Amino acid sequence: MNPRTLRPGIHWLGAIDWDRRLFDALIPIPEGTSYNAYHVQGAAKAALFDSADPAFLELFLRQVASLPAPDYVVAHHAEPDHSGCLPDVMRACPSAVLLCTPKAQGMLCDLLPDLPADRIRPVADGERIDLGGRTLRFVHTPWVHWPETMVTFLEEDRGLFSCDLFGSHLATSKLWAEDDARTLPGARLYYAQIMMAYATVVRKNLEKVRALDPAWIAPSHGPVHAQPAAILGAYGSWLNDPPLRKAVMVRVSTHGSTAAMADRLVAGLVARGIDVEPFDACSLQVDRYASALVDASALVIAAPAIWDGPHPAALLAMTIAAGLKPKARVVATLGSYGWSPKALLDPAARMPGLKAQFLPPVTAKGAPRAEAFAAVDAMAASIDDAIRPSAP
Ligand code: FEO
Repeated sequence: MNPRTLRPGIHWLGAIDWDRRLFDALIPIPEGTSYNAYHVQGAAKAALFDSADPAFLELFLRQVASLPAPDYVVAHHAEPDHSGCLPDVMRACPSAVLLCTPKAQGMLCDLLPDLPADRIRPVADGERIDLGGRTLRFVHTPWVHWPETMVTFLEEDRGLFSCDLFGSHLATSKLWAEDDARTLPGARLYYAQIMMAYATVVRKNLEKVRALDPAWIAPSHGPVHAQPAAILGAYGSWLNDPPLRKAVMVRVSTHGSTAAMADRLVAGLVARGIDVEPFDACSLQVDRYASALVDASALVIAAPAIWDGPHPAALLAMTIAAGLKPKARVVATLGSYGWSPKALLDPAARMPGLKAQFLPPVTAKGAPRAEAFAAVDAMAASIDDAIRPSAP
């Protein structure tokens, strides 16, 4: 695909990855993705923002060569899906200076040994560069995926180049997001996978970006937001709204005992008006799971003991939840064991970093009996108590 005009003097370039189905070798992306770069031409100088995944190097270099040579190459983020072509771009554009945050300087050099280190210039938060009638303002926004990230505000056009922030895994021929019903679910998955773990700092960055009042937002994945209110509002909701009366339940059972306990808990929660979104641990759809955690107030892990811990499939779900750090207020675990409950007794240690209340695990030796079911019923009541909105 050739560069496409976003606005006069502003071009999209990069690659649409129609076939990619897994990101970070972990998260399914059923609708593919894109790696967006942008080229901005001022009256005097030109700038290139980011590059593309190195799998598309040849295409990207061809695109760059078809546009006026950039004086500046801006690297918003060191992750290789955006930085991977930069060594070759810098070779092809020998007079260009690479601009990035001070933190990105070291990370880029670590990741890309062929990058000419003497042509990298860190920029300060709020620093401006005039391209001739078009001013770039660099805004440091750490942890909008990694610690080194920044965005660029194009002042006269009121355009925001946001890199991963506000991105979506969506391969589409549309340059502009025209259908929020399609874009927002992809953006929500993207938020869950990439931003939710750093919600505290992303919240601050959201306010920083809102204050710029962008007229359009051009992320590095998915289409460009022509009406930023939708994506800014969605981020505000994902970050700040209280979680729903919803439990995400991950379940696995080897011989039916844990399943019987899990079914009893579902009945107890549903009777209390709490929605339950179930996931089979052994065929965990990580994208759906991550997205479901965005607004869940409870996480339930139903898994039997295997070796010295919960079933390994449940351990993966626990590790992912611990990494994503959703706003769930309570975590409940239950399961059956053969000879010792020890493997099931310390779920908090397996999910460090989750700020939720951990309920005492409910366990049953072999098949659950009345006592175990009573404990499960009590667990439903405890979940209900824990997710009830606090009195004003
Ligand atoms: Fe799209 Fe964090 O890279």
